[in-house]
Amino acid sequence: DGDVYKYYSDGEWKKSSSGKSVAIINPTTRKTQYKVQACSQEEVNKIMESAKSAQKSWAKTPLWKRAELLHKAAAILKEHKAPIAECLVKEIAKPAKDAVTEVVRSGDLVSYTAEEGVRILGEGKFLVSDSFPGNDRTKYCLTSKIPLGVILAIPPFNYPVNLAVSKIAPALIAGNSLVLKPPTQGAVSALHMIHCFHLAGFPKGLISCVTGKGSEIGDFLTLHPGVNCISFTGGDTGISISKKAGMIPLQMELGGKDACIVLEDADLDLVAANIIKGGFSYSGQRCTAVKVVLIMESVADALVEKVKAKVAKLTVGPPEDNSDITPVVSESSANFIEGLVMDAKEKGATFCQNYKREGNLIWPLLLDNVRPDMRIAWEEPFGPVLPVIRINSVEEGIHHCNASNFGLQGCVFTKDINKAVMISDAMETGTVQINAAPARGPDHFPFQGFKDSGIGSQGVTNSINMMVKVKSTVINLP
Ligand code: G3P
Repeated sequence: DGDVYKYYSDGEWKKSSSGKSVAIINPTTRKTQYKVQACSQEEVNKIMESAKSAQKSWAKTPLWKRAELLHKAAAILKEHKAPIAECLVKEIAKPAKDAVTEVVRSGDLVSYTAEEGVRILGEGKFLVSDSFPGNDRTKYCLTSKIPLGVILAIPPFNYPVNLAVSKIAPALIAGNSLVLKPPTQGAVSALHMIHCFHLAGFPKGLISCVTGKGSEIGDFLTLHPGVNCISFTGGDTGISISKKAGMIPLQMELGGKDACIVLEDADLDLVAANIIKGGFSYSGQRCTAVKVVLIMESVADALVEKVKAKVAKLTVGPPEDNSDITPVVSESSANFIEGLVMDAKEKGATFCQNYKREGNLIWPLLLDNVRPDMRIAWEEPFGPVLPVIRINSVEEGIHHCNASNFGLQGCVFTKDINKAVMISDAMETGTVQINAAPARGPDHFPFQGFKDSGIGSQGVTNSINMMVKVKSTVINLP
């Protein structure tokens, strides 16, 4: 069937013998846009086998050569930004301009990783024994960083390209092979991205891309004995993966409920601009989106007015038109968001705009006077709906932030840098941004979530280091 995108295994594009496919629904039209192969467990087994054998020779490939191939893939990726961005628009309704940015950012990330990799992997340690009590200088210890083996990468729908390469590039530079399971919404963008790696000429079997239903191959992949490391970005699934996984390193970036704490001395125009960018870009479908505003009562009215004025200017419509607010990824996601909105309505939140929804398109909504008994105070809508909680002390804000199960990022707005640093120290989140909205980038910064928001730290350097193990050789002198 020519209409079904093939999966990528052993350096070739293949049809699944299952004869089944998975439909990808365009969030805007709500019609089937693409179809991908529903791979079988046997096909996963074959992929794992080739990944294992390809990795053995890849680990022996000189570091500079691995880097060279990654640079090549990065350049090809950037050359193909237009068709890949088009897929992102159709599959996940990402505004056209942002879709192009995602691909370019991905090319840059791959190149940066290649450069960083040749530096940090080209260095090991040399230790001598006589610095530890009781030892003579009779032992020399040489350490190096060696690959883990086969890395399983599972990125989410909101960055199917960027959050795939942020796993692929560190895995490959470090000498690992890579099996990608793309999200269903975003699978075709990912296949196109993989094609760029194919064109760059990586050895057969080193990279593969397996598509299919999570319910059929999800657990099979994550529990597969051939997998030596899982790098996952997404939602609650990550928690169940981590509970079931064997004795392998895990890198997880899960949800967030990023708080924006606003003090009385804050520059309210700056805050409003960041709330718009942080809360509503890609319609709030970012784990680092501002998901709750905690503002001092005395300045709340003024800030809400400013944000309201900016919300009124947001354009709402299809991603092809570069609208600010585009349809959310699926009907079930839209229904979930609506559930949070209705709960807030019943419990008496102030609606700064009328609630409006057409299909998967939800108009941006600011909810004022949200209280802790409302679901939206704690749950992440992953949509263009932002709650405002009025607070009477900074401590109240910190307390709300820390009472969350999540701990990804947070931000604080104040002109008092000492206070900002103290608040940052008090917030139990992986990152705190002072006077700007949360964000993962620049992509070489460490990126990590505490509590239910993740395991380990990402960012280029940390991801490379996470995908290697330390090997020691000790020379014993007579
Ligand atoms: O939701 C994924 C997360 O990694 C967000 O990235 O670049 O939008 O801050 P970014």
